[in-house]
Formats: sequence, structure tokens, C-alpha cells
Amino acid sequence: MKELQEPGAACSIKPISRRALLQSASAVAVAGMMGGRSFAEARGESPAAPTDKGKVFPPKFLWGCATAGHQVEGNNTSSDLWLIEHLPESIFKEPSGDACDHYHLYPQDISMLADLGFNAYRFSLEWARIEPEEGFFSHAELEHYRRMLAACREHQLTPLLTYSHFSVPRWFAFKGGWQNPWAPDLYARFCEKATRHLGDLVGYASTFNEPDVPQLLNWINLPGTQGKSLIEALQGGLGNVRRQLNAPEFANFFMGDSKKIRDGLLAAHHKGKAAMKSVRSDMPVGFNLAMSDDQPAPEDSHLAEKRTDVYSPWLEVAKQCDYLGVQVYSRSIVGKKDLPPPQGAETTQVGWEFYPECVEHVVRYASKETGVPIMVTENGIATKDDSRRVEYVQRALTGLKRAIDDSVDVRGYVAWSLLDNFEWMSGFEPKFGIVAVDLATQRRTIKPSGAMLGNIARRNSL
Ligand code: BGC
Repeated sequence: MKELQEPGAACSIKPISRRALLQSASAVAVAGMMGGRSFAEARGESPAAPTDKGKVFPPKFLWGCATAGHQVEGNNTSSDLWLIEHLPESIFKEPSGDACDHYHLYPQDISMLADLGFNAYRFSLEWARIEPEEGFFSHAELEHYRRMLAACREHQLTPLLTYSHFSVPRWFAFKGGWQNPWAPDLYARFCEKATRHLGDLVGYASTFNEPDVPQLLNWINLPGTQGKSLIEALQGGLGNVRRQLNAPEFANFFMGDSKKIRDGLLAAHHKGKAAMKSVRSDMPVGFNLAMSDDQPAPEDSHLAEKRTDVYSPWLEVAKQCDYLGVQVYSRSIVGKKDLPPPQGAETTQVGWEFYPECVEHVVRYASKETGVPIMVTENGIATKDDSRRVEYVQRALTGLKRAIDDSVDVRGYVAWSLLDNFEWMSGFEPKFGIVAVDLATQRRTIKPSGAMLGNIARRNSL
């Protein structure tokens, strides 16, 4: 088992001007958003409660929440997705707009996360902001992300930094996205520049969020389409997007030839990781894999084929990484493709089965296949009924603890998501957050699940 360097041990935090100002501003803003209640009151529980040994997680276990730039920052105007959100015939339910204005409100969001009891924050860079035109790197935007990392450090949060979470610069998409033979080099140059500017503050770096999604989409049927996969539907959409943009090469993470995208992402991972390590060799680097708790259908199950197609190429790569992030929400019963949830099963706002035991099953599988330390970097449910989230998280963590007690090497648990945010094509309707966001006022309200999970984090115990 590899020993990871203590995250942040080698970090020297550059003093940032306006730090005091930002901190006091954020404290005032959060106090306002909490409606005058203190965090202790909001949590409604004493953090000093004695813990039962059997419920205690390993020392230095990371407890965090995750976001992704495009889903929370707002006004990511140089990105491919902003562009297609605003097409007359858009596949997006609504545009991302201001989203949660996390671009400006990150100081209070980060201090809120720390006050709740967490010790880690997973967020992503927006390549489109940092390199809005090919070859032009914005020092100001790099400084923005540096301030975010510094804010995490000031609040004793280990930053888990994702370099690419789906969205790309629009110029990159116009050149064919990940299908472009030069994509890995273009991505590696971005990784090198970003690591030079930010690397000393990073706790754990990830090259890609869910690079297996283009393959995974082949296994998911669109409801009511008699066997048409989600990827086929997106392919159809791509022609329409290209026509509207008058851009015959346009392709991105979700749209294009899934095998070519996969090969581009694999090469970009290798080159990107090498670029990061060339700047900071001791920075832990991995990636975050989308995984379902796959279970065989009673008849004609293609489970092994699915695993070979979707996970195997990436699980191989993970063996050479410092850690593997796993992102798991539910189970899939695998027949020829993924079958719909069993009749009568409880489902969430996005139609996935309520199945918290998926976390335990997936960490066991990922650890056995790779032998590297595992981090749960996304897990949660979309629901308007937060009491269901409370139950889901408690059951998910009970299962995770069982796996840890059986010596599965798990280093952290990161909930998706900190905020109710922009859920890609589904817009703002699905509620994944442990904190609610009023989109008109940007007021944050901590949900009971946030208080509950924060207390578990603070105690490092169930
Ligand atoms: C993605 C997130 C997304 C979440 C819920 C993951 O696939 O990384 O960006 O919001 O699932 O759908």
C-alpha cells in the first residue's frame, strides 16, 4: 500500500492581500445568510459528544463536500457549455446563468463548510476562464483560484482540486474537443501552467472528473425509447448543435465519438499527470471514476462486458496513480444494458434508485481491482425531502465503515454536493445540496443533512 504524503505538508501559503477583508466580509455575509443563528445552533448538536470506538473512522480521514466550477460559479461565458445552453434549440433545460455565484461568494461558502465541521473541499478549475483563447493564459483567473485554495488552507480544509470537470473552453470544442489529436498536448500545457501557479496549495489533484462517462452513457437507455442509448440521443443532438453553430468539428466531453473521446481522455490523463508531476512531483495525482454498483440481471447479464468496456481501461490507469476517487450514487442491474430500477423501488429526483449500500460495494470492488488508496469523491442523492438524504448518508457511511473495518483502504468521503446547483442538462430542478440556495437572493440555508454530516465529520465518528 502506498503511503501518501501528508496533504499540504509541503505548502507555503503566499500571503494574500485583502485576506482580512475577505474573511471579515465572509463572516458578516454568512451570519446574514444564517438568519442570525450561530453555526452551533444550526447544527443543533454538541460536537464534543463522546464517541463509540466501533464508529470511529481512521485518523486523518478526510470529510468534505464537492462542487464543480460550471455548476456553481456562474457566468462561465468562455466555455463550450455556456454556448450550447444558449442555442435556440438547446438540449439544456435552462442556462446556468449566475448559478450559485460561487465565483464571488466562495469566501463565505468555504468558511461555512469549515464551520459545519468538514476538513476538505473538492472543487474544480474552469479551463475556459484560465485559457479563454488558445494560448492566452489569464494571470488574474489563476490568482482567483489561488485565493480559493488559500481560503481552504486558512480554514484547515484540504483542497481536492479537479483540473477538468466536463466543461472545456469553447475554442477547444470548436477544434473537436477530446477527439482532436492535439487535445492531450493542449491539456498538458494547461495542467503545467495551472500547477506552476497553484500546485503548492493543492492537497490532492485530479486530472479528470468521470472520464469513463462517455463509455458509461452507452449502457444507459433513454426512458421510453426502446433501447436507444443516451449517447445515441446525444449524437443526434450533436448534428443539431454543429448546424446551429456552423461549426462542423464541434465536439466536447458529452458529444462526439465515445471511443475517440475515451482515447483522447486517456492520452490527456497521462500527459496531464506528467505535466503536474514535472512541477510538483510529490503532489498526489489521481482521477475520479463514475461507478455504479453493478449487479447482474437474473438472465442475459452483460455485466462483465460492461466492466471491460467502461471501467477496465481506467482501473488499469488507476494502478499507476497515487489514489483513485470513486463517485457512486446507486446500483445498476445489468442486462443487455442497464435496466430500469426494480418495480416499486424508491427513486430520487433524477430517477436513480435509492440504494445507499452502493458505496460499500463500490469501494470494495475499486480497491480490490486497483490496490491503491480509495477516496469517495462524490456520493449523494437528488431530493427535495432532506430527511431521505439524512437516511441515505447514514446508511452509506455505515456501509463505508464496514468496508474500512475489513481493511479496505479508504482515505475520505466527499458528499455531492455542497450546494443545490446547476445539474447540467436538467437545470436547477434536482436538489443534491446539503445547503439550499435561493437563486434570486443567493441566500444559503443549511439543511439538516448538512448539520448531521458536519457533526459526523467533526467527531470523525458515526
Ligand atoms: C458529476 C456531477 C453531477 C453529479 C450528479 C456526477 O456525475 O460529477 O457533476 O452533478 O454526478 O448527477
